[in-house]
Amino acid sequence: MIRKLYLLPLLLITMYSCTGNDDSEYENINLEERVDAGGETTIYSTTTNAYSSPAPNLTGAEYDNHFEGDLLFEATFVTAPATVNPGLGSIYNNSACINCHPRDGRAKHPTDVNSANGLLVRASIFGTDEHGGPVAVPGFGLQIQNRAISGYAPEAAYTVSYTTQTETFADGTTVVLRKPTIALSNPYTSLPGGVMLSTRLGTPIFGLGLLEEIPETNILAQQDLSDADGDGISGKANYVWNPFTLRTELGRFGWKANTASIIVQCASAYVEDMGITNPIFTLETGHGQTNGGIPGLEPEVTMETLEKIALYCKTLGVPAARNTDKPSVKRGARLFEQLECAKCHTPKQVTGNSSIIALRNQTFYPYTDLLVHDMGEGLADNRPDFMATGTEWKTRPLWGIGLTNLVNGHTDFLHDGRAKNVEEAILWHGGEAEKSKTKYKNLNATQRSELLEFINSL
Ligand code: HEC
Ligand code: HEC
Repeated sequence: MIRKLYLLPLLLITMYSCTGNDDSEYENINLEERVDAGGETTIYSTTTNAYSSPAPNLTGAEYDNHFEGDLLFEATFVTAPATVNPGLGSIYNNSACINCHPRDGRAKHPTDVNSANGLLVRASIFGTDEHGGPVAVPGFGLQIQNRAISGYAPEAAYTVSYTTQTETFADGTTVVLRKPTIALSNPYTSLPGGVMLSTRLGTPIFGLGLLEEIPETNILAQQDLSDADGDGISGKANYVWNPFTLRTELGRFGWKANTASIIVQCASAYVEDMGITNPIFTLETGHGQTNGGIPGLEPEVTMETLEKIALYCKTLGVPAARNTDKPSVKRGARLFEQLECAKCHTPKQVTGNSSIIALRNQTFYPYTDLLVHDMGEGLADNRPDFMATGTEWKTRPLWGIGLTNLVNGHTDFLHDGRAKNVEEAILWHGGEAEKSKTKYKNLNATQRSELLEFINSL
């Protein structure tokens, strides 16, 4: 007790210098060096192609493979037999990668959930499988396919309902938030009880090769599992099964860091999202409703295709940050530190010695730690995914976010696109980020707009 009292004045001084009005601590943020958000893979485009340009530093051979991968990413699959891109389904969510990742960017939160593109629903029942992953729903698997080719039935239709809640800022301004809840209707066969669902929207896919090449030790160094520094922010690595290397590995991709590598993400997209078998996933996902992929048959796409489409996702250039010399943007960057946003949205990362020359030894600014964080009940899907619990999500990279409206014509953020803009995304932060949100709500209107201006400069 005596010791605590003795420490109190010291504590107050430290708290004041971290959170008080004194900006000097953050005066040295060098936004100029962060312009090259993707290091040497940065592209300086403020057009609708800002997410879909190859990194400028690719070698000739890498560029050729990137271009072939681009065509694969845009290819629409059709029902077999056909001469071009056969094998769609039997059941599927969409017929082309690009439909869910429009202009290599972000899908919109749909108004009509079954006819729109870009959304999928993962499913599981209680427990963990032999690799610590989610347990497939008998008859339905780990993802609900809401479309089917002729002669087959979609597994179920998606339905969404909404609830609203109001957030009030310290200055009295209010914002009404809308929360979607997904459910299933018309299942092709009876659904077991206790099915857990997770709604996810298609993400931007540029800059992913850089994220894949961050040395694992750097990511683990950001963990603070027991919150030893007492800032309320822990962060933890998700470890997931990699069906290609047949090992448990650090998860980096997907909204819960539920996938270890880009090639596995691409292979699972082929089989789960489109019904296209491949060398990593040789079996159709149809659960009895299959139209091929019988063991012994050739997969519908080859290893070469997987490698090219993965290379494409790895080598899309990262759009440069903009307006970094504007005083309001600089002030916004300081607020980003003061509100502790940067404790999860880590500005700077580096790569090591990649086999892709263009990605080697880069310094870049993705604004993510690639760790999962408890984000509170408001954002929870209550569906664990390997070590990520039902309230945990991976810190989203913020690079390129300010160009979303230009490229994709909307600003629907977060895993299910519930936030209509950056401010709503911040207001959904809870759990480990509750303190950041509260600090945001205590800002005045000028400060709020400076912070938003900074985010939109990325
Ligand atoms: C039905 C919509 C849909 C289709 C079709 C689709 N995706 Fe995706 N994609 C998503 C969603 C949703 C996620 C996030 C998945 C998660 O959180 O588990 C995602 C994630 C990804 C990621 C990881 C992004 C990141 O930042 O972590 C990559 C890479 C990717 N998709 C590539 C592809 C490729 C390649 C194809 C085509 C073979 C494809 N996708 C087809 C919806 C789709
Ligand atoms: C405890 C870690 C943490 C802190 C602190 C934090 N964030 Fe986040 N942020 C996340 C996670 C995790 C997500 C993804 C949540 C989801 O999709 O459900 C996210 C998502 C976002 C998004 C939406 C991105 C997208 O692509 O959809 C924005 C914008 C954002 N954060 C801004 C901020 C700002 C500004 C602050 C400070 C006021 C902040 N965050 C503080 C972890 C954090």
